[in-house]
Amino acid sequence: MNGDVIPDISVNLGPISLKNPVMVASGTFGYGREYSDVVPLEEIGAVVVKGISLKPRPGNPPPRLVETPGGLINAIGLENVGLDAFLSDKLPFLRKRNIPTIVNIFGETIDEYAEIARRFNSVDGILALEINISCPNVKAGGVTFGSDPIMAASVVQTVRSATNLPLITKLSPQVTSIAEIAKAVEEAGTDIISCINTIPAMAVNIYSRKPRLGNITGGLSGPAIKPIALRCVYEVVKAVKVPVIGIGGITTAEDALEFLLVGAKAVQIGTMNFVNPRTVIEVLDGIKSFMKSQRIARIEDFIGRLENLQ
Ligand SMILES: Cc1cc2nc3c(=O)[nH]c(=O)nc-3n(C[C@H](O)[C@H](O)[C@H](O)COP(=O)(O)O)c2cc1C
Repeated sequence: MNGDVIPDISVNLGPISLKNPVMVASGTFGYGREYSDVVPLEEIGAVVVKGISLKPRPGNPPPRLVETPGGLINAIGLENVGLDAFLSDKLPFLRKRNIPTIVNIFGETIDEYAEIARRFNSVDGILALEINISCPNVKAGGVTFGSDPIMAASVVQTVRSATNLPLITKLSPQVTSIAEIAKAVEEAGTDIISCINTIPAMAVNIYSRKPRLGNITGGLSGPAIKPIALRCVYEVVKAVKVPVIGIGGITTAEDALEFLLVGAKAVQIGTMNFVNPRTVIEVLDGIKSFMKSQRIARIEDFIGRLENLQ
């Protein structure tokens, strides 16, 4: 490939195609509009919006964010405007600008997940639904849906029968075997798997002798979790046939390329949007430069080409 040729960075993830493999992760990019003055939204592979529930949620008591040397611990508590306000006040902006939009959804019961999915059947211009299964199942006493293969599968199965939209199931790393959960949700009908969500964590103040978060514990994200996320993606890619999206601690193009090499078809960038909102564009440019310098014509020729050490 000639160094001047523009590399082909489009990717195919089963039912959805993206012009490039770099998206922004749910909960770290608002509803898109918040970043539109600083980031050219049309250049992003897809915008995954903040998680939406049936009813608005106020979230957890403050403080809700703590910085650690390797990342962020958040206990936002899934605060969001609720489905009706999302459809009337948030989505039209992304639709008008033709931004590929993935809607992240969650519920407190399986029926709530299904109800939200059903409501999207009459909404145009959504690329896919991303199902966040790292949420407490109220009926099962607060244990998270994603921690058990049977519960995870039943969320996906119920959402699958409620909609024809492409489904991405977002996995938690807080399980004994992420491959087992991945297989269960594949069998239940998810089209794509994304991983990982945040990792349960805690921070305390030795002077006040108090926890740093209003909720006491929260979810760790950012550079500290990248090696864990990479291992999860590797195990999930080996376990399933559906495309996988890699998420966790991506800071640079090199980080994103590591995920692609182990087999992720695309990546999402989360915490870094708070540090430098243009990270997504810089990662994209870095991937293109890498491809030119390595003479890789199509990104699909690089994805999953991890070689053995021997
Ligand atoms: C402040 C904050 C809010 C988040 N909200 C959501 C959410 O609503 N739904 C969801 O599925 N993930 C949510 N996440 C998780 C991210 O989408 C992502 O999976 C995680 O942060 C790991 O990626 P990162 O290390 O690049 O941040 C949130 C993360 C942060 C930091």
